[in-house]
Amino acid sequence: MAKFTFEQINQLNNTLKTPQEILKWALDNLHPKVAFASSFGAEDVVVIDMLMKISPKARIFTLDTGRLNQETYDVMDEIRNKYTINIEVMFPDQNEVEQMVRVNGMNLFYQSMGNRKLCCGIRKVHPLNKMLLTLEGWITGLRADQTQNRSDTKRIEIDEQHNNMIKVNPIIDWNWDQVWEYIKANKIPYNKLHDKGYPSIGCEPCTRAIKSGEDLRAGRWWWETDPEKECGLHADHGNK
Ligand code: ADX
Ligand code: SF4
Repeated sequence: MAKFTFEQINQLNNTLKTPQEILKWALDNLHPKVAFASSFGAEDVVVIDMLMKISPKARIFTLDTGRLNQETYDVMDEIRNKYTINIEVMFPDQNEVEQMVRVNGMNLFYQSMGNRKLCCGIRKVHPLNKMLLTLEGWITGLRADQTQNRSDTKRIEIDEQHNNMIKVNPIIDWNWDQVWEYIKANKIPYNKLHDKGYPSIGCEPCTRAIKSGEDLRAGRWWWETDPEKECGLHADHGNK
């Protein structure tokens, strides 16, 4: 489905520098077949603010796993009201969830890595794939220093994991301090869990606050020991 060649994407990565230039390019070239995937964490509210300042028509979707924190729903509504936008909320397939919990129980993710990935697959990856099938490009709030996997991610990429569509990562080279400077300077609503020691926020049962000195993602699936913990949105676990 690639609309752009690798050479064109390379050239764009060399010429487009600021997140705003990158987002404008994505909207000019792909709207309405491009949308921002938002979990409403700190990085994502920054990208939403940038997008809304470029075009209030920009599309935003979220994957509601059914297991999010109340604070996440609170910031979703604050953002919705501040920018007067409709957020496209994707839910997991009801039959898949029913079957999964019937066989494995409600808290299956603590039992094994396989069960955890099954749950992430059904509650996040499948709904993401369903949305992405309708698009030519998607936008993320990824940052390179979040995980080793993400360290060589480019601002604009051809996403081989998703049918060679365009993946746009406008703040890939930002650090954590830049994110917070932008949030404060622009008075953007943010998830209140960030004030309670949660730098990275996923689902309620699978995320905890971190202790001082811990890695920013240490609170995600905290009982697992793999340093490259991912849910499959950005790294293929064979859950498609
Ligand atoms: S995860 O793969 O470990 O869960 P992470 O929380 O770091 O991802 O978020 C990285 C990016 O993935 C976010 O900036 C956002 O673009 C996308 N993302 C993560 N979770 C969701 C979600 N629930 N809904 C939509 N997009 C999401
Ligand atoms: Fe399921 Fe936990 Fe993954 Fe959320 S983060 S989808 S609750 S395993």
